[in-house]
Amino acid sequence: MRFNEKLFNYVLEAAKEFENGFDDNPVVPGIDAVKNIDQFDEPTPTTGTDALDVIKMLHEIGTPATTLSRSGRFFGFVVGGTLPVAQASSWLTTAWDQNAALTMLGYTAAKLEQVSRKWILDMLDLPPDAAMGFVSGATMAGFTALTSARQKLYKNMGYDLRKSGLKNAPDLRVIVSADIHTTNIAALNYMGIGRDELEFAPVDAQGKIITEELPAMDDRTIVIIQAGNINSGAFDDFTKICGLARRAGAWVHVDGAFGGWIKVSKTRGKMAKGMELADSWSIDCHKWLNVPYDSAIAICRDRSAMMEAFTISASYLLTDGERIPNNFTPELSRRARGIDVWAALKYLGRDGFGELIDRCCDYANWFAGELSRTGFTIMNDVVINQVVFCLNDNDDERLKRIMDKVAASGKAWFGPTRWRERNVYRMSISSHETTQADLDVALAAIKEAMD
Ligand SMILES: Cc1ncc(COP(=O)(O)O)c(C=O)c1O
Repeated sequence: MRFNEKLFNYVLEAAKEFENGFDDNPVVPGIDAVKNIDQFDEPTPTTGTDALDVIKMLHEIGTPATTLSRSGRFFGFVVGGTLPVAQASSWLTTAWDQNAALTMLGYTAAKLEQVSRKWILDMLDLPPDAAMGFVSGATMAGFTALTSARQKLYKNMGYDLRKSGLKNAPDLRVIVSADIHTTNIAALNYMGIGRDELEFAPVDAQGKIITEELPAMDDRTIVIIQAGNINSGAFDDFTKICGLARRAGAWVHVDGAFGGWIKVSKTRGKMAKGMELADSWSIDCHKWLNVPYDSAIAICRDRSAMMEAFTISASYLLTDGERIPNNFTPELSRRARGIDVWAALKYLGRDGFGELIDRCCDYANWFAGELSRTGFTIMNDVVINQVVFCLNDNDDERLKRIMDKVAASGKAWFGPTRWRERNVYRMSISSHETTQADLDVALAAIKEAMD
């Protein structure tokens, strides 16, 4: 038998032990568990080790040191969780070892990227023939979309960037929200665009662009706006900004890493009204869609812009199939991550996905209410799943001591953030695992830490 029963049965048991321990184990690993990972630091192995022994070592030392970011009581960053169905599809896809570069190397992978593309565009009310690339995260999705944007603007000017390069390229302008997620600036940096070249659009108290103060755009401009501010969850005024951009011939990119999915919610979809008017979008699947890392999508209204920026051709690279997957991504060989996206969408359906999103937002609202009854001030308008909070007495150092105590209790984890020149805390709910019982435990941990 080719299949290594012993090895994979062990992995299954290890995974069970890991998941079933969620309720009893600390949300973040203790000091000893983290110290123990130093045991991995062995001299370069000369000879090999039995596969089962390798995996046993990984489980025995690695599992206790895991950060349970996928658990229902991890509220830091915006991390999502992993739906069992997507974990299972990921395991099976790994067994298949498919390369999503070419249709011929992964027929199912290529097909399911195409199917997911159609479903997502439908769910998000985006143009049905928009192009989509399946990349590793929102940073790369931003890079992919913005590179396509630049390609298109240069093409409009009659300049072939891929042939002639940046050195002699005409000037481009990039306008970004003053509150833009820092990874967009990183993506621009990778493209050779520096921070000092950017024009920052002023924002209001919630982090929304003040449209009246948006610098005037022209047909050499890319503007980057947000569906879901990383702290407040706020949405820019897409209708107004896209209208201005359309008239100027500018390209609008929306960073909707987590907030872009709000369109799927029946009750909150209107928050992102007009998002469909933009030219490109970057959205994480490993956040609110709850698929395993690494997974995100870059979407461009103009299919040719993406293809002209990314198509890789060589005589041996077969071009069969209805859509060549690598024409829409910076990489050639890559994991078939579109399969997990399909599995999650098929499992949830539009309604189930909308309910998951609404549940997270309702929980955020409920928790914000409880916090304000407990001596905290909520610093943002809780419009989706993000809550920024400080103490009523504005003692940010005491706040840190309290939240450190909560973290040390292992019962919940909230992330620090900087908001309006203050060192405060942020809660984000984006895991399908979070339940009311988790919120109760987290709230009790905060009250206990305050005592
Ligand atoms: C608004 C926003 N944009 C971009 C990113 C970057 O996403 P990733 O870490 O998947 O590259 C994040 C991550 O938190 C985000 O919240």
